[in-house]
Amino acid sequence: MILTVTLNPTVDRVIEIPDFRISRVNKIKRERIRIAGGKGINVSRMVKILGEETLATGWIGGNNGRFIKESLKREGIFTDFVKIREENRVNITILDPVKRGETHLVDRGPRVSPEEIETLKKKLRKLRKRVKVVVFSGSAPRGVGKDIYYFLIREFQEDKIVTILDTSGEYLKKGLKANPVMVKPNEEEAEQLAGRKMNLKELICWGRSLGRENRIKIVVISRAEKEVIVIKEKEKVLIIDPPLIEPLNAVGAGDALVAGFAVGLARKEKIEKISSLGVAAGAASAESGRESFPSLERINELTKRVKVRNFWSLKDYEKIK
Ligand SMILES: Nc1ncnc2c1ncn2[C@@H]1O[C@H](COP(=O)(O)OP(=O)(O)OP(=O)(O)O)[C@@H](O)[C@H]1O
Ligand SMILES: [Mg+2]
Repeated sequence: MILTVTLNPTVDRVIEIPDFRISRVNKIKRERIRIAGGKGINVSRMVKILGEETLATGWIGGNNGRFIKESLKREGIFTDFVKIREENRVNITILDPVKRGETHLVDRGPRVSPEEIETLKKKLRKLRKRVKVVVFSGSAPRGVGKDIYYFLIREFQEDKIVTILDTSGEYLKKGLKANPVMVKPNEEEAEQLAGRKMNLKELICWGRSLGRENRIKIVVISRAEKEVIVIKEKEKVLIIDPPLIEPLNAVGAGDALVAGFAVGLARKEKIEKISSLGVAAGAASAESGRESFPSLERINELTKRVKVRNFWSLKDYEKIK
């Protein structure tokens, strides 16, 4: 089973307001989307499409928490959340078809108590027995230390479960120290961690040392429509060209990519096959946007169009522009 951990789930709403203005009364024309969100939850959604068993956990509370749980149930996604006292957040995207603008209102989210942190740890210990792959995604709500993933990953490592970390900033920096099996920064997150801008070659070199220094088996660096870098066991480097598609909305494409890797790893496939599935799932998600979900047929079709290049030696890298 593939377990996803979303510490800060959301109710994601996308509403339409033509000619949206600040400091005015704005009438909502219609609500386009109201779904359970949060990065781990997005991963579970794609894992289900890809045909593997998945379970979503994390903290939920209040009416929004109830909505998250119930809407996932309607989607056929199994959940086992820890209930908290405060209420989950609602993130709102305002689409303005007249000015063609997009405004994001990002909620702060609940504060979690030390007892609630302990309850989640206990829950994870119980679930651990059934887990092949665990995915930790996104940031954490208030009251939780930046080293949360360090502690959670360490517990799973002991059982030889495949651990995947997809987060940014301090959460990533501290989480890395627990030696997760895989990390997936996007280009921006990689540059933030490195403290400088990097081109393709520099990203590869940086990714290799990140893997070596933190004993991370698979480092994946995604760059939207550009090449995806996959570094396996410090040495082998794959450069993958995503298929050419018409993107509708790339929000969550990274989560879909992580889901593809989680599924491939759970099936113990070869890294080339795992990577193709991940990249195709990412592309499929970017082209279907968020009002509909891609089909498995479409993902399989895109998988065939993914181009994987293999590099073994330093000399090979020199050929990269
Ligand atoms: N325009 C696009 N065309 C083809 N594939 C895309 C496109 N945008 C995204 N993808 C696919 O999705 C993957 C992940 O995208 P991206 O690098 O934007 O992730 P991300 O920034 O982590 O996204 P998020 O955090 O919003 O989920 C890419 O590596 C690629 O495989
Ligand atoms: Mg991401």
